[in-house]
Amino acid sequence: MQKKIKVMMVFGTRPEAIKMAPIVLQMRKYPEDILPIVAVTAQHREMLDQVLELFKIRPDYDLDIMAKGQTLFDITSRAMKGLDTVLTKEAPDLVLVHGDTTTTFAGALAAYYHQISVGHVEAGLRTHNKYSPYPEEMNRKLTGAIADLHFAPTDTSKNNLLAESVKDEDIFVTGNTVIDALHHTVREDFEFKDEFLKRINFKENRIILVTTHRRENLGEPMRHVYKALKDLVEEITDAHIVFPVHKNPKVREVVQEELGGLEKVHLIDPLDYEPFANLINRAYLVLTDSGGIQEEAPSLGKPVLVLRDTTERPEAVSAGTVKLIGTDRDRVYSEAKKLLIDSDEYKKMSEAYNPYGDGEAAKRIIEAILYRYGKRELPPEPFKAAQQ
Ligand code: UD1
Ligand code: UDP
Repeated sequence: MQKKIKVMMVFGTRPEAIKMAPIVLQMRKYPEDILPIVAVTAQHREMLDQVLELFKIRPDYDLDIMAKGQTLFDITSRAMKGLDTVLTKEAPDLVLVHGDTTTTFAGALAAYYHQISVGHVEAGLRTHNKYSPYPEEMNRKLTGAIADLHFAPTDTSKNNLLAESVKDEDIFVTGNTVIDALHHTVREDFEFKDEFLKRINFKENRIILVTTHRRENLGEPMRHVYKALKDLVEEITDAHIVFPVHKNPKVREVVQEELGGLEKVHLIDPLDYEPFANLINRAYLVLTDSGGIQEEAPSLGKPVLVLRDTTERPEAVSAGTVKLIGTDRDRVYSEAKKLLIDSDEYKKMSEAYNPYGDGEAAKRIIEAILYRYGKRELPPEPFKAAQQ
């Protein structure tokens, strides 16, 4: 009998968990060929556990590294140390990491130190600015330099890798697994369980969904955004803000100072993925500095104003459903207001468009692994975005 491929999936934060979950679930369908192992660093604790619970994933290893106010050095060194032990014990054939967090980079580096192959999911996203987003741009570049297999979500990300001399045969265009996850969760008849969400009157009020967490936006940039939001809800009667606030105390402090106690601004804890994704689907508009939400909202036909100066996800910007607006107070106010008062402008940005995936990314990733390890004759058909 041919040996099974031992694949260790390493992740640690909320978005990695959401985007790796479809792969973990899909891998269970290949028990003859693959032995999956899940190792979480728990760089995030509560926000990771929310996702593990939803997708019913019980990690084989939990390094539990999170500390309040952790630095990049804390995360990197604790993750590396913990992974060394786990990799020594398990000696997998392949380590899969996702995206661009510090867990991602530590996972790739730890595997490399053990001379274990690395597969990079969501490979090839680039802004070409090493401080924006920080430290994600370097995390994904360094991970890409180590990886043996690159699962690029789109042709654009594949081209970024080719430009860095990654070999064509090592790149598979798969679509983004976030769309697989979205297919699991968003339903038109979804009923919120949370009392506050249940009470929202989506017919009479327009909901602006807001999230912020990027390290380069901490402090003053975020403060400018919040001031603009306050001006906006004071002026536009039917506009309400729902803001699930990231657990980072540095985010929470400024949010509370600027937006605490306002009647039309609803500050809530991070939502579980299922209600959150369904809330995007019912919101009028999204303002965010998140990466994942930039991928989800366009496929649900929701305009996104991105509170950043750069993006590694240019596809939806070209399509016109996402706009980069930065964090300047006047700009944030005027761009959001435009979408609230100008229905033509709103309509232009709310055409559903899905450049990031078709719900089959996890399957393609696994087929690519089987192909690479000689358990399948052909590589998967690459993901092709539908023409607009
Ligand atoms: C991290 C990633 C970022 C990703 C983001 C997703 C790095 C350097 N950053 O940023 O790429 O976009 O996750 O959200 O890898 N905290 C909790 N409970 C939680 C999660 C966080 O209390 O469940 C608090 C802790 O005090 C922690 C702080 O938030 O120290 C910041 O977490 P950290 O992972 O360092 O940075 P993020 O901004 O979450
Ligand atoms: N998300 C969630 N609950 C929330 C806010 C976001 O489940 O309260 C999900 C969101 O749908 C997306 C992911 O978290 O899939 C994005 O995570 P985040 O913005 O923290 O990180 P990024 O994508 O910027 O790395």
